[in-house]
Amino acid sequence: MIREYIHTHQQRFLDELFELLRIPSVSADSRYQKEVRQAAEYVAAQLKKAGADSVELCETKGHPIVFGEKKINSSLPTVLVYGHYDVQPPDPLNLWTSPPFEPVIKDGKIFARGACDDKGQVYMHLKAFETMMKLNQLPCNIKFMIEGEEEVGSDNLGTFVKENKNKLKADVILISDTSLISLDCPSITAGLRGLSYLEVEVTGPNRDLHSGVYGGAVANPINVLAKMIASLHDENGRVTIPGFYDRVENLSDADRKKLNSAPFDLNHYQKDLAIDEVQGEKGYTTMERTGIRPTLDVNGIWGGYTGEGAKTVLPSKAYAKISMRLVPHQSSQEIMTLFTNHFLALAPKSVKVKVIPHHGGEPAVTPTHSKAFHAASKAFEEVWGKTPIPTRDGGSIPIVSLFKKELELDTVLMGFGLDSDAIHSPNEHYGVKNFLIGIETIVAFYQHFSRS
Ligand code: BES
Ligand code: MN
Ligand code: MN
Repeated sequence: MIREYIHTHQQRFLDELFELLRIPSVSADSRYQKEVRQAAEYVAAQLKKAGADSVELCETKGHPIVFGEKKINSSLPTVLVYGHYDVQPPDPLNLWTSPPFEPVIKDGKIFARGACDDKGQVYMHLKAFETMMKLNQLPCNIKFMIEGEEEVGSDNLGTFVKENKNKLKADVILISDTSLISLDCPSITAGLRGLSYLEVEVTGPNRDLHSGVYGGAVANPINVLAKMIASLHDENGRVTIPGFYDRVENLSDADRKKLNSAPFDLNHYQKDLAIDEVQGEKGYTTMERTGIRPTLDVNGIWGGYTGEGAKTVLPSKAYAKISMRLVPHQSSQEIMTLFTNHFLALAPKSVKVKVIPHHGGEPAVTPTHSKAFHAASKAFEEVWGKTPIPTRDGGSIPIVSLFKKELELDTVLMGFGLDSDAIHSPNEHYGVKNFLIGIETIVAFYQHFSRS
């Protein structure tokens, strides 16, 4: 029945998703403010159409939050679905094989910004809900909270959650915004990394100088910045900031073994990225490096002359954007302070250094023995014929730890993307198969969760 309904309506499901994908809801770029709202309105309208009783746009200081609800019986459990309708900027545009906001299907995959992260995955939830409503099979109460600022740190959602605890009362949070190991090997994410994101500004002389007249005698802030950044890792790939690892939890050998027993093909991984070798912290596998170890990466670096041809200049300023991914027990605020103190101390007298904090978020681990996790596991067994493996993902969804802290609710991270879906990159895509089987698995989750 369920599968049949999804199959019968799949073309319409995709058409509707395409309409959402055509709206460039780039939350980071104020030029798209109107479009971000338009995406919220579209999600709200589709939620209503799918059968939600009350749907509203909740205004914030930034982009609105879509909230919708279907209450069938207060004695039944309530699932709160969270997702985001905002997307990352599509740049660099010239590397897309088709325009980012003109979705197309190629080789069974939907190509568009947000196809996987997170519009495609949010839309599975809307269609799972529609399916249950239309077949009269909704087994519990549902709330939806779909926000528009996940890609910029969810600050306003944090405030909204704190101020609306009653409205958000539920038994569990369900999120599809992560990835699976593969279509042959389903998995459920049981942990996410946290994040500290900042920007640094290094100033040398008070103006750009002739690099011949002054070069060699005055500190070049780009040279200095490059050296400072290089010193942030040692020869073993470890971060050199004092105290950085102090709170990092060391997993037992048994837990590490379990983590590494998940299928992972290093050759395939390297080939996919066109690299001859992986790198990272000595003594850890690739899966551990992204799953359970903290990291530091430069996300962008600029300064001086970057236009066409050559200009001989000793620049006045150099900049970099730096992120640190955090693991359980590390605190985003504390790591920000440790970085700032260390980086300022590193600077030679010849330059001035500023550290400007951006957003952050705490790491999260989700329980693998809860009723909800078992329901998710059973759902995969039923639809995929395989028991899903719990994994740790390297990405961050800052609101997950806040849900636990403020609402005392655990989250089930039932994502259907693949690491190779190129989220945040050019040519982001999402398998039509993933989309359809995801809808079916979500419906199965509700059935098992309400039965237990
Ligand atoms: N959906 C991702 C996070 C993710 C992706 C988790 C893949 C696990 C696997 C989310 O939209 C995201 O990109 N989060 C940001 C953090 C945010 C504060 C900008 C991230 O991880 O960089
Ligand atoms: Mn996402
Ligand atoms: Mn994202």
